Formats: sequence, structure tokens, C-alpha cells
Amino acid sequence: MCVLSVVVSEAEVTIRRASEDDLEGLLRVAAASLGWVDGEPHEALFRWKHMESPFGPSPLWLAECNGEIAGYRAFMRWELRDQWGSPVTAVRAVDTATHPDFQRRGVFSRLTTHGVEEMLAEGINVVFNTPNDQSRPGYLKMGWRDIGRLPVAFRATQPLAVVRMFRARTPAEKWSEPTEVGVGANEVTTCAGMSTLLASRPQPVGWSTAMSGKWLQWRFGLEPLHYRAWVPQSADDGVVFFRLRRRGGATECSVGLVLAPESNPDVERQLLDGLAKAVDADYLLRMGPPDPRGGFLPVPRVGPRLTAREITATPDCDIKRWAFSLADIELF
Ligand SMILES: CC(C)(COP(=O)(O)OP(=O)(O)OC[C@H]1O[C@@H](n2cnc3c(N)ncnc32)[C@H](O)[C@@H]1OP(=O)(O)O)[C@@H](O)C(=O)NCCC(=O)NCCS
Repeated sequence: MCVLSVVVSEAEVTIRRASEDDLEGLLRVAAASLGWVDGEPHEALFRWKHMESPFGPSPLWLAECNGEIAGYRAFMRWELRDQWGSPVTAVRAVDTATHPDFQRRGVFSRLTTHGVEEMLAEGINVVFNTPNDQSRPGYLKMGWRDIGRLPVAFRATQPLAVVRMFRARTPAEKWSEPTEVGVGANEVTTCAGMSTLLASRPQPVGWSTAMSGKWLQWRFGLEPLHYRAWVPQSADDGVVFFRLRRRGGATECSVGLVLAPESNPDVERQLLDGLAKAVDADYLLRMGPPDPRGGFLPVPRVGPRLTAREITATPDCDIKRWAFSLADIELF
């Protein structure tokens, strides 16, 4: 195990790899810095992200000072394909927190630099994330590049919904609202038609997640998130994974992923059309460029900013060549 000592304002801070035994303390620090509300399923979400991912468990590091956890850093493992379909090994710099008593003393920077060094030794290609405004300046100081804003587009389900959407200019709730529309996502990700559908799709035209049946089962399988699947026919004829969440006074249908046979855009439009008519939400929100033919208009200045850093390979710095869907970004 690699242990590193650094001095933060006279007190010695030790950096070490975390294990499952550290989970309770680590979640206490996260709760103190992120203002988590009691009773929400944060631990289940943390375990899902960092211990149950099909890309493998996340490396996690702790900074300790006099036996207390001053901060932690997680790098979630992820597999990408570049625009030619070649594999790219990645980590996502998601989940980091410094206890309020230790903030602005270099804990986050040292944990992150330490993590990048360990990933370099492992031969990981790139690190990427969509940091918030508080942590983005820190990443840019450590060599991350601001690649740009990932586009998002919306489709209103009724005229008044547009007003509600533009009034609701606040971040969406993290947790989902229940709905009976569609079927539970698990019913679809585990069915036989999924592998036929996935196999029919051509390689996306940009950097994208290396998707598999196992990945779909994990991504849409966490019970507290209540993901649903819109499947008008059988799974191999196409499916939309979605969930509902509140954004201010509006109910948003967050379109995680649309899978159409051979990625046929007309079938994608038909699937989304059916969902828009059936769903009990004010609008559909998806990641990607606008599609006026399918009723999807741009939402300016709303998409998250993607940042990335080279570890052993250079990430693509053209935002137009990143082909992420909401399922790749939301919650991470
Ligand atoms: C964001 C956070 C992890 C930073 O931790 P930290 O240990 O205080 O960060 P560092 O001392 O290493 O700061 C490194 C750089 O990050 C940036 N930064 C850190 N806190 C910042 C803040 N509140 N506002 C703006 N920039 C900030 C600065 O550029 C800073 O460099 P500087 O101090 O030389 O200006 C910490 O404030 C935190 O836990 N926040 C709540 C949880 C969170 O937002 N996590 C990130 C998303 S998951």
C-alpha cells in the first residue's frame, strides 16, 4: 500500500488507499461537506457507483489528520471507445469531498494528484469528469482541460410545459419520482432481445461508453432510482430508458438512453414520440444536439461542462466528438 505524508498548515496529513472498512467515516465527511439530507439512499448510491460497477471497483483515497478523515477522493473506472472504436481506459474523477474544517488547505489537490500518479503507474489512458463550479478551478490548475459544454435538448409534452420549464431554472433533484409509465428497467435489461438490439448498433461517431448488457443492467438497475423502460414492442425493436425527477415546479422526464435497432434515427423519433405522449411529465430532456424533426429544441447554457486530462493518452478536445447520453453523465 502506498502511503504519502504531506503537511497542511502545521498538521500532518497522511494519504492512503481506502478500504470498505473506511466507508462509514468517508460517508460522514461527504455528508458534512455536501449537506446530505438524512434518510436519503446516499450509501446505496455510493456502493453502486464505486463497488458494483461492471468496470470494476473504484480506487479510493483518504487524507487523514490526527486520526480524523480530512477528505477523500474516488476515481470511478470507466471504459470508452474513441471515434474509431478503439478502446480507451479511463477513470472519472467523481466524488471528492474535503471536510469543512480542512477546506482550502490543499487536501483535494493532493489527493487528486496522488490518484493521477497511481493511475499513471497502472497505465490508465485518460481521466475525465463534469465538475461543479467549486471544484472545476482546482482541476484546471492540475492540468485538466475544459473541453466544453455537453449539449442538452428538450421536447415539451404540452404548451404550458415550456413556461414551467423555463421558470424551473434550478438544478434537478437527484432522486426520482415514481411513475407507472413503461415497465421497470430491470425487466428489459435482463431480457434476451437486449443483446440482439445492442449488437445491431453501429459504433457511435464519437467518444462513447463501451456498452454491454452487463453495463445496462448495472446502469439502470439501482432500485432507489426507479429507472423505467419504454418498450412499445419487444426489446429488440427499441427501448428508451428514463426516469422522472422534479426541477423546481416542473416534472422532468430525463431520457437516459435511446436504443433503436441499427441506431435508426426514425425509429428513435418514433420511440420518443410514444414516450412524450404517454409520460406524466412537463417535458423530455436528453443529452445531444437538438433534433427539430423529432421535436427536440436546444436548452442553451444548461449542459454540464466536460473536462479531461491526459494520463497516458490525449483525450479528444473537440466537444462535438464526445457522444454521451444522459445515462453517461447524470449522477456522476
Ligand atoms: C471542492 C472541494 C473538494 C475542494 O476541496 P479543498 O481541499 O478545499 O480544495 P484545495 O484546497 O485543494 O483547493 C484547490 C483549488 O480548488 C479550487 N477551489 C477549492 N475550493 C473552492 C471554492 N470554494 N470556490 C472556488 N474554488 C475552489 C481553488 O482553485 C483551489 O486553489 P486555491 O486554494 O489555490 O485557490 C471542497 O470544497 C468540497 O468538499 N466541497 C463540497 C463537495 C464538492 O463540491 N465536491 C466536488 C464535486 S463531487
